[in-house]
Order: sequence, then C-alpha cells, then structure tokens
Amino acid sequence: MLKNIVSPSVLACDFSRLGEEAVKAEKCGAQYLHLDVMDGCFVPNISFGAGVISSIRSLTKAVFDVHLMIRNPLDYIEDFAKAGADIITFHIESSSPVDETIKKIAACGCKPCISLKPATPAEAVFPYLDRLAMVLVMTVEPGFGGQKYMENTEPKITAIRREAKKRGLNIDIEVDGGINPLNAARSSLAGANIFVAGSAVFKSENPAAAVSEILQAADSHPFAG
Ligand code: DX5
Ligand code: ZN
Repeated sequence: MLKNIVSPSVLACDFSRLGEEAVKAEKCGAQYLHLDVMDGCFVPNISFGAGVISSIRSLTKAVFDVHLMIRNPLDYIEDFAKAGADIITFHIESSSPVDETIKKIAACGCKPCISLKPATPAEAVFPYLDRLAMVLVMTVEPGFGGQKYMENTEPKITAIRREAKKRGLNIDIEVDGGINPLNAARSSLAGANIFVAGSAVFKSENPAAAVSEILQAADSHPFAG
C-alpha cells in the first residue's frame, strides 16, 4: 500500500521567516516540504530559486519536493539537486526534452516527477510512467496559491493510477492546488497519495491539525479501484 503524505507548500508561508516556517511544517507532521519555483515565464508569477532552497536545507530533514514551474527545467536540474532537492518535478508542457530531463534528474541523484496542467490529458505521461517516481496532477492552473480545487481533474488521477496498477508500478501520485481535508478525501479516492497543501496548512490557526485532518481524510478514503 502506498503511504499518504502531506507536502506543505511554502508559497503560503510568511517568507520573512522562511526557515522557521519550514521547521514548523516538519513539527506539524509533514514529511515533505513543497517548494514552488516560478520563473514569470512558464507561469505569470515569480517565486524563488535554488539559492533560497539551499538556505533552508540544513534546517529540516523533510523531503524537499521541488516543483519547477519554469520554461527550461533541464538547464537548472543540477542547481536544484545541489541545493538539496530530493524530488524534482518538471512540467511536461515546458520546453525541455522530456526524456533527457528525466535522465538528468536521476543522474543527479534525485527522484524524477512529471507534472500535468489541468488541460493536459493523463495519456501524455504514460510513455514515461516506468521511469518516474511520481506524477503531479495539478488541481488548479499553476502560478498562484489560494485557488479553488478543480474536481474535474479527478478522472485524470484515476486514469494514471489505473495505468500504473496495470503495469505493476507503485508510483506516487501527487495533487497540488486548493487541497483541504474535504477534497483530500476525494482525490485520495481517485488515486492520489501525496497531498500538497499551501493555504490549508500555513494559513491555518492550527497547522498540525490541518496536516492530520488531511492525512485522516486520505487514510479513510483509499483508492476505490
Ligand atoms: C500553484 C502551486 C501550488 C500552490 C498550492 O501553482 O504549484 O503548490 O502553492 O497552494 P494552495 O494549497 O494554497 O492552493
Ligand atoms: Zn506546487
């Protein structure tokens, strides 16, 4: 059975205290930390780069789940690996050659993951499934935190989970965008097991409760098959 994991997105945290916020997320029971890198080109927003990630690497043991929303991910894989990324996710809609980018991530000692925007069909990732550690299904348009979860992405999650099962692959499926305890149950039922949560964790008065509610919701709604 795949483990359910919460990956708080620092995009929703207080950036003036980034290090403390990263430590807080780990203390709240989150095993991953989601780091959204945006270049103002692939998405209409700019966040932070490898230097910022590197500056907080030594503060926490959390798995660094780096989500690259940038036009040319291949050119920056080494930088993010050196900064301490454990998982590197790039968009299939980016300009980089997919095969080469997967190879580069693995060669740098990181886990390769492909992300799909809401309009990209499940089948787009099928040719690469055997070489990926995870698929990230965007449940909002990438670019900004605090948006509303799109339920119409659930059939795509299920299609990827079914295809992975058919091939005997225990791949992780991550959902990202507008996740809260209510829709975590829905996306878990659909086949997801890694839950990115920015606002639901960092804007909560009780972030530890938010993490455990998402986990509970997912644990009690396993993939329906
Ligand atoms: C959106 C980012 C998300 C975002 C999630 O482009 O990829 O990771 O920070 O934030 P919430 O949970 O607030 O939607
Ligand atoms: Zn993200």
